[in-house]
Parts: sequence; structure tokens; C-alpha cells
Amino acid sequence: MLDFIELKNNKAHAKIALNGGHIFHYERVGQEPLLYLSEISDFEDGKSIRGGIPICWPWFGKPEGKTLQHGFARTSKWTHVSTKEIDEDTTKVILKLNHSEETLKLFPYKFELALHVELGEHLKVELKTTNLDTKAFEITQALHTYFAVSHIDDVEISGLENKPYLDALTYKNEVQNGAITFSKEVDRVYQEVDKTIILKDKNRTLHVESIGSSSCVVWNPWIDKCSRMSAMKQDAYKEFVCIESANAFDDVRLILPNESHILKALIY
Ligand code: BG6
Repeated sequence: MLDFIELKNNKAHAKIALNGGHIFHYERVGQEPLLYLSEISDFEDGKSIRGGIPICWPWFGKPEGKTLQHGFARTSKWTHVSTKEIDEDTTKVILKLNHSEETLKLFPYKFELALHVELGEHLKVELKTTNLDTKAFEITQALHTYFAVSHIDDVEISGLENKPYLDALTYKNEVQNGAITFSKEVDRVYQEVDKTIILKDKNRTLHVESIGSSSCVVWNPWIDKCSRMSAMKQDAYKEFVCIESANAFDDVRLILPNESHILKALIY
């Protein structure tokens, strides 16, 4: 089992692995877990956990010339900086990841990545990228959140109506018509995102507010892709949907030396 931090307060319970700076459990008191976690996920250093909130950084997807999908942050060992109980309902945790000999081979810049998690009635996740190099660099990234749902057939996502998106399955640019529902594989990078995204399920309604982001990835692998995926049971696609607060596709961020960019997701 990996090293992880377990947090409990009057409002919620969470688990964060140092491998990947990965929140793999979040549950509000008296409710079902909000994040999906694959029952057959790997829990090994250097492997990404299947479920929770993988951190895709310093690139999203697999840009040209890269062999590692979604960057290296999700498989790197982070350092625990602090855990503070703000009050009985709120706990704050900070983790960090810095450049190393290994990362410089993959991404030739010095950086500091800080993950601030605030646990309570809401889950706040903040990813701060600081450029410690003398050269500017560009990043794409995502808080690749797997939301647990009662059944994918009952899911409806709103807040992205009329937004342009790249359909990653056809590489065509499209515009969203109405709310999103699922009856096949969906893999889309929405652009110009400026509203709270609402995930309605049979049993509950969740909200995702993103700051420092104008793109959002919506993904469900459906039957065929799910059966080919690692660390996921064949019919797991029924149990989750990913809504990923992102800087992806056209939403690339340039970070100058000694400057930072913050990507935040507020989930409730
Ligand atoms: C999503 C991508 O963000 O992540 C999908 O849009 C991809 O194309 C999915 O399949 C899962 O990626 P991975 O590397 O965790 O299997």
C-alpha cells in the first residue's frame, strides 16, 4: 500500500496519496463517496491510481514528442508540507513536488508545484505552478476528477451549453447543444468555460467551480474502451464520469520566470 494521509473532520473524510499528490477518497459525513475509485486500481509507487483526482501536469494528454500520457506529476512522489486543522469542520493540507534530475529529462525547467487541499463541506483543490527557471515555460494540465455516479445512464451535465469543444475521438471542433448525457464514449475538451458545471445524478447534484481555467474535459470511456483500460473492471464505465478542471487544448498557460499560475477546483 502507498503512503497516504487520512483526514477526518466534522464534515468529511479524505485520503491523499503522496504518490501523485492524489486525492483518492472524499466523502461527506453521512453521504456516499463523491469520488469514484476503481476496485482494482494499482496502489504502487510510480503508477497512477485509477479514480479520485489524478493530477495531469505539466501536460494534458499526449502532445507530440511526449511518450508519457498526462505528464509525470500523477506518478511522482510528492512531499507532505503541512496539515492544519483550521476548525472542527475544515482541514488544510499542502503537498509539494519540485523538479529533480528525473523531471528535468522530461520537462527541462525548474519548477515548484504546490497542491493545497481544503477538506470540509466542500472540497477545494488548488494547484499552483511556480516557474523557478530563468526561461519561460508553457503548461497544459488537469485535475482529472472521477465522480462516482449511481449509473451513467442517469447522468446529466449542464453548464457547458453552447460552448465550443474539441471532440478528441474525431478531432473535430463542435458546439455543445443542450445538456450532456451519455449513450456512447465521450472524450471532449470544452473551451471558453465560464460557469459552474452541474452534475445531476439520480441520487444527488454536484457542482464544480473552476478558477484559473477556461477549459474542461468531459470523459467517459463507455464499453469498448473501458474493457481495454488498465486497472478498471470491464463495466466500470457505468459507475463514473470525469469532469476535469483544466488548462487544455487552446487554454495553454505561459508561465514566466518567478511567476505562478493557480488552477483551482471547488467541488460541492
Ligand atoms: C482523459 C482523456 O482525460 O483521460 C482520455 O481525455 C483518456 O482520452 C483518459 O483515456 C484516461 O487516461 P489514462 O492515461 O489515465 O488512462
